[in-house]
Amino acid sequence: MNNNDERLMDCDGAPLPYEPGQSIGAALMNAGITSWRTTRKDGKPRGLFCGIGVCYDCLLTVDGQVNQRACVVPATSGAKIETGGRVLKDTAIQKETDKAARPEESHD
Ligand code: FES
Repeated sequence: MNNNDERLMDCDGAPLPYEPGQSIGAALMNAGITSWRTTRKDGKPRGLFCGIGVCYDCLLTVDGQVNQRACVVPATSGAKIETGGRVLKDTAIQKETDKAARPEESHD
């Protein structure tokens, strides 16, 4: 295991890297994931809003503890993050859709 392997969390079954000192919310944003839950009433996407633990928009489950604020919970090696299972999948699907729509801009 090298240093990069040690700085991985599990987010909905996918590896999520983080940098020392980051919150889980910062690690998600750094990975290009800007929303990870939806509102109950209208299904609107939510992620970081205040970023300081006040608004509760960034809730997710960390190591089985529900309703944790991603913006204030430190990222730690091996943390198991659950967003409801849609976020990473949707993000991956959206990236593939974007690539298909603009193949000339793809640099992968
Ligand atoms: S972004 Fe407001 S509480 Fe986390």
